[in-house]
Amino acid sequence: MNIRKSLTPDQIDLDDLLFWAMPLEDREGAFATLREERPIPFFREHEIPGFPIDPGPGFWCLTRHEHVLLASRTPEIFSSARGATSIPDLPSDFNEFFGGMINMDDPRHARQRRIVSRGFTPRALAKLEASVQSRAAAVIDRVIEKGECDFVSDIAAPLPLEVICDLMGIPAHLSAMVFEQTNIILGIGDPEFTSSGEDAQMAIMGAGAALAALMRDMAEEHRRNPKDDLTSALLDASQADGALTDEELCSFFILLVVAGNETTRNSISHGMKALCDYPEQRARWAADFDGMAKSAVEEIVRWASPVIHMRRTCTQDTVVGGQKMMAGDKVVLWYNSANRDEAAFVDPYRFDIGRTPNEHVGFGGPGPHFCLGANLARREITVMFREIFQRLPDLRITGEPDRLVSYFINGIKRMPCSFTPARAAA
Ligand code: HEM
Repeated sequence: MNIRKSLTPDQIDLDDLLFWAMPLEDREGAFATLREERPIPFFREHEIPGFPIDPGPGFWCLTRHEHVLLASRTPEIFSSARGATSIPDLPSDFNEFFGGMINMDDPRHARQRRIVSRGFTPRALAKLEASVQSRAAAVIDRVIEKGECDFVSDIAAPLPLEVICDLMGIPAHLSAMVFEQTNIILGIGDPEFTSSGEDAQMAIMGAGAALAALMRDMAEEHRRNPKDDLTSALLDASQADGALTDEELCSFFILLVVAGNETTRNSISHGMKALCDYPEQRARWAADFDGMAKSAVEEIVRWASPVIHMRRTCTQDTVVGGQKMMAGDKVVLWYNSANRDEAAFVDPYRFDIGRTPNEHVGFGGPGPHFCLGANLARREITVMFREIFQRLPDLRITGEPDRLVSYFINGIKRMPCSFTPARAAA
């Protein structure tokens, strides 16, 4: 990829959605300029239309890989408790409801993380393996005879959501509703996903309430009839650390569908786009799928950087890279920029499925909040691409991706594709 350094540091404003609507080459160029000339800039916050919250005082930005690692490794100074997923300060009950443990510090975070980790042990993931495989095959079965489809909604989107629903034991007929509500929560700022006339906050609250109601019903049902799924494991008070309360269960579920759904979907979409843009890398992977899968999947997540940033708040005065920060200051970790840092990656704008080492921060930096679902996501991406390589080997993207304008999620909303039709397996 060729980046364009079309903005000076003074012209860059990462809190302005107009910046995020610029072509990718210009945005990448702007981050390269910041890393080089002003690696820890401060931006004032703008009002968000439809979001009745006072704009805050502004935020520091960490654009270099080394500084993102430092903040991730030092949670006692760079706290998540004032909100990790929103730069504007949101009411603490809102943060807790929507983000659960992602918006907490230890020891509360550590307790919840230990409980929910019951669903992500190697044994639990091995149990999910068959469902990942059969669901990925079914996704391809549904499109393979058509010869064309929308890559995002028909191929990339269904698997992550279905796997989360399987993990929690949610019945198949409710997954469409979970999908819609998740889009509302994550599409904030993109008018397509917020009904007209409704303000953004109301839309989000409604979506959260719908998901919570679903989980409360599930909890009731699982208490009556315990099952072999994560919901029952989280409600099992006999285990060390006890059970999640109903409120914690609802928030965890919202966190899961939000954190595990769009991120994995966008990795698959960006990965496919990159494999089409760089056919030599596609041929290289096709020649040795299993041998290359591990490094290819890491490179896809680095390339996609599906989560653009997370936020922290300083608990005390501190200094990063020579920049003084005060207790209470907001600090934003720009994963997209760290993943293109020339100091951490050789030739960072090259998509290289054999890249080694690849210390990307697509799943977050090393620290207590490192993505809980990383291994599951890796598995889903691998299985999906294996299906595509084997059954839709000539799939090509036939139009420009329609990108989500967001400074938080690097999303692709639609991306037409075509392939030689074949018979469904079933
Ligand atoms: C390629 C796909 C994915 C990406 C890029 C991704 C990215 C991230 C990132 C950057 C964080 C760090 C948050 C922070 O430091 O504040 C995170 C945390 C988290 N992720 Fe993922 N994620 C992915 C898939 C998943 C999946 C499949 C699940 C579960 C089904 C999941 C569940 C979580 C949870 C629960 C957390 C919060 C962990 C904590 O606060 O302790 N993620 N993810």
